[in-house]
Amino acid sequence: MAGPLSLFRARVVAVTSGKGGVGKTNVVAGLATAFAMAGQKVVVLDANFGLANLDVLLGLTPRHTLEHVLRGEKMMEDILLKAPVPGGRSLWVIPTSSGVHELSQLDAPSELRLVQSLQRVCEDADWLLIDTAAGIHDAVLKMLAAAQEVILVTTPEPTSLLDAYAMVKVLNAREPRKPIQLVVNNAQSLEEATEAVDQLRSAARHFLGRDLDVLGLVPSDRHLLQAVREQRSVVALYPESPAGTALRNMAESLVGHSPTQDPALIW
Ligand SMILES: Nc1ncnc2c1ncn2[C@@H]1O[C@H](COP(=O)(O)OP(=O)(O)OP(=O)(O)O)[C@@H](O)[C@H]1O
Ligand SMILES: [Mg+2]
Repeated sequence: MAGPLSLFRARVVAVTSGKGGVGKTNVVAGLATAFAMAGQKVVVLDANFGLANLDVLLGLTPRHTLEHVLRGEKMMEDILLKAPVPGGRSLWVIPTSSGVHELSQLDAPSELRLVQSLQRVCEDADWLLIDTAAGIHDAVLKMLAAAQEVILVTTPEPTSLLDAYAMVKVLNAREPRKPIQLVVNNAQSLEEATEAVDQLRSAARHFLGRDLDVLGLVPSDRHLLQAVREQRSVVALYPESPAGTALRNMAESLVGHSPTQDPALIW
């Protein structure tokens, strides 16, 4: 799928990680909510085939998923779900299901159909955010290749950092010019987050000759846990919480309207 999505009017951003469970889906839901609350049109593609749960996090119950579209039983427009966000606005979700494993093996005509239907539902969108699975697999790499930009999420844990580095290495080998922006999530302190950033950046610079940008540092925050329990994004439920604030700042810095805020103000 490399290439076609770059013709989109929308900015196509894939959110990924080396290790699983580091906060990708929460980052996607938070960014999407922040964009939608600011009046932008956002489509989110749940591309975590197998462990799809973006719908759950946003309190949605899909009747049909991407699987039905790929089987030719439904149109993309039929499966699109509207998720309300504060301020009377909404964002749009393309739900998936565990039956979509075969996406990495789509033949060329099916792949083209998928791209065309994505293109239709994103026609007037400002953002297409893609929530991917964790790890270096064909299906994930294909999604990353299709996106214009990649957000790489890691926690400060050594295992997560190591897996994030492995992902940078693979991405860098395949597409050295694709922008990768780092997010350190679920950090206990600003020091811990900064140290994680320093480690990953210096490894990437030293071994790969690659500079990594940092999009944001998200604190470990009980408000996020509560929001997950209530099946809402922390940005919708607790916009002023530490995690909510960090995610809103990240959305703003992605839009490019404002420079990344001093993280010391959040912690
Ligand atoms: N900033 C945070 N503060 C506190 N807890 C967090 C934070 N971020 C993530 N978590 C915890 O980690 C869990 C996993 O988050 P999430 O589902 O977003 O990860 P993921 O990377 O999408 O996982 P997967 O690889 O399975 O798709 C959350 O349900 C929450 O319990
Ligand atoms: Mg996830």
